[in-house]
Amino acid sequence: MKLLLREWRDRWQDNRIGWHQELGNASLKKHWSPVNRSCTVLVPLCGKSKDLVWLANLGHRVIGIEVSEIGARAFFLENNLIYKESTYKNLKIFEAINIQISIYCGDYFDYDLCDAEALYDRGSIVAIRPEIRSSYVHHMKSLLGQEAYKFIISLEYAEGFVEGPPYSIKPVEMLSYWSDLIEKDSYNDIENSSPKFRKSGLNQVIETVWVS
Ligand SMILES: C[S@@+](CC[C@H](N)C(=O)[O-])C[C@H]1O[C@@H](n2cnc3c(N)ncnc32)[C@H](O)[C@@H]1O
Repeated sequence: MKLLLREWRDRWQDNRIGWHQELGNASLKKHWSPVNRSCTVLVPLCGKSKDLVWLANLGHRVIGIEVSEIGARAFFLENNLIYKESTYKNLKIFEAINIQISIYCGDYFDYDLCDAEALYDRGSIVAIRPEIRSSYVHHMKSLLGQEAYKFIISLEYAEGFVEGPPYSIKPVEMLSYWSDLIEKDSYNDIENSSPKFRKSGLNQVIETVWVS
């Protein structure tokens, strides 16, 4: 487990962060619609996603979790946000001064503050190794309130072409974790996928947007 976290940190160190979307995620902007427009949104495995700013500008309180300190600091620097630092257990907290965004820096599984009212998961469940995916979901359920709004983007592609991450997840598996998910959108995203997908001969990487 610790070794894999080091691999993620190494990617940040070497700037191998091909998943990062400089303009944020288009599906989020199209489909995000929680009932409560100013709720607390949990963004696990957040990287330096621009989506944190987009969500906070809507009026949400945004909490990201990211293992890489390089990634967390880059987020604040690149968005010109002044932040203060503190700690919670073995996590470092980076908290913006003028906008409601905090990033807890450390292992997602060490984050235990509960009752988030919404989840935004892009590039997160698909980044988790399939062997520990059910633990990821189990932990997520402990962090979300009963009525929490969920917005999750999953990927599906044919086996045998490339190794994850990102890992493929079948819709039936998503629904086995959260039976209340509704498929909001689904499209072939091969054009925007990482070069390893395109080079592998795959012609379809299906991205599905799930909401509850
Ligand atoms: C594929 S990236 C997606 C980042 C972000 N969600 C986005 O859309 O840009 C996955 C991120 O999760 C982080 N990560 C991986 N495992 C983690 C863990 N166990 N705890 C916290 N962060 C983790 C990595 O450092 C990386 O930044």
